[in-house]
Amino acid sequence: MSEIICLCKNITEETIKEAIKNGATTIEVVAETTGATTGFCHGGRCKAKIEALIKGNK
Ligand code: FES
Repeated sequence: MSEIICLCKNITEETIKEAIKNGATTIEVVAETTGATTGFCHGGRCKAKIEALIKGNK
């Protein structure tokens, strides 16, 4: 099973990677397309992980 990256919104690593593959190469676009970082902690727990995924999967 894919790791949960955004705990507030229950968004998996797989979903984030898919979004990056489809052109979401900035945190803003990932947020728009997946909803990650829009939860109650406002990305406090997931932003850094998403940034690392963007770097690693561009
Ligand atoms: S863990 Fe992603 S918004 Fe809180």
